[in-house]
Amino acid sequence: TARRSHADGGELAVGGVGVTRLAAEYGTPLFVLDEDDFRARARAYREAFSEAEADVYYAGKALLTKAVARWVHEEGLKLDVCSGGELTVALAAGMPPERIGMHGNNKSEDELARAVEAGVGRIIVDSFDEIERLERIAAERGRVPKVLVRVTTGVEAHTHEFVATAHDDQKFGLALSTGAAAEAVRRVLSCEHVELVGLHSHIGSQIFDTAGFEVAARRVAEFLTRIHRENGVELAELDLGGGLGIAYVSDDTPLEAESIAKSLLTIVQRECDAHGLPMPRIAVEPGRALSGPAGITLYEVGTVKDVEGIRTYVSVDGGMSDNIRTALYGAEYTCALVSRVSTAEPVLSRLVGKHCESGDIIVHDLYLPADVRPGDLVAVAATGAYCFSMASNYNHLPRPALVAVRDGVPRTLVRRETEEDLLRLDVG
Ligand code: LLP
Repeated sequence: TARRSHADGGELAVGGVGVTRLAAEYGTPLFVLDEDDFRARARAYREAFSEAEADVYYAGKALLTKAVARWVHEEGLKLDVCSGGELTVALAAGMPPERIGMHGNNKSEDELARAVEAGVGRIIVDSFDEIERLERIAAERGRVPKVLVRVTTGVEAHTHEFVATAHDDQKFGLALSTGAAAEAVRRVLSCEHVELVGLHSHIGSQIFDTAGFEVAARRVAEFLTRIHRENGVELAELDLGGGLGIAYVSDDTPLEAESIAKSLLTIVQRECDAHGLPMPRIAVEPGRALSGPAGITLYEVGTVKDVEGIRTYVSVDGGMSDNIRTALYGAEYTCALVSRVSTAEPVLSRLVGKHCESGDIIVHDLYLPADVRPGDLVAVAATGAYCFSMASNYNHLPRPALVAVRDGVPRTLVRRETEEDLLRLDVG
């Protein structure tokens, strides 16, 4: 949706607004979000799962502001939050509490109390400690929150593949293989102030292969039928988490919402039919797939350094503080000159930031026109997920603004931080 408009000198336009105007009005680095694109992706997910009346929760950890929470609600999705801070944003945006699901492997007493008091729709319980804590908190308040037990299926997802692990060596969930999940179900069922309504499974993120999702779905569905046999309880809900990959570079081929919906629903249906159980209500929690492709980061080039015989270093006015994903995960991105068209020959370049370390790289290898110079604007694509939300103040850089564009109109969602903002918190 971020289209190159030739009418105004070949510069990039997002949502009908040229990048030169965006940079002039809001400064750089700048997170720019295409509202229509986000909404269209949200609708596509809701529609893909609508036949089964499944719930689609947007995973707010990818990118959450009050406006984003409102778009999510307006498009008929629910919202997954994983901290008290995300819950606060969701409630401030007017998201009905019953449409919120609350995650976290170590929710604090305060976070659980706030979730219970607000009437959050689902709390996903993740440990024995939490079950006990929640029972007490709910009893003290005379409430009965609905919960899902987060189950670890032994499916460990990697980017292009999955491996089934014998042991579940990570902090989330309760393992099926060790019996911890079955024990958690028994404990929740024995609680008077916590109502067990279903199971939850999330296998990972940026996944391109349906096989991992399918194995996990089969395993939790099997577990659901086992709970019926052993505990005499028919669980009504199965939340299969998020993790659908998006295209960062041209080799990435993302899964379509339609096809993932079809395969997940078929697997669960088959498992339930085989055991004469009614189909549970399915939920999914895409984050990246909705916000990722809808965002770009706009930077101004500050210096261009040709390291003779190796490559050209193009330095921009942000870096690892607004996009830690390259340094942290070896993530790949594309970047282009967007403020003008250049016919200069492409040269091997590296897009780097302004931080005081050499690992401050945004794109390792890319070809940029040889005449890229200070003052040019470049844009990194598909930064709408886990860039704004993971931004830091490293080297005391104020965090960039987040601007949404729709029908030719830009609007600030989160204003740029200032150095005064940083000083205000420094009270020593
Ligand atoms: N549901 C649960 C329980 C999750 O833990 C996550 C992501 C999601 C849904 C959404 O996953 P998505 O559809 O966005 O892949 N910071 C990393 C990603 C961490 C994801 C954590 N959990 C990154 O930048 O790639």
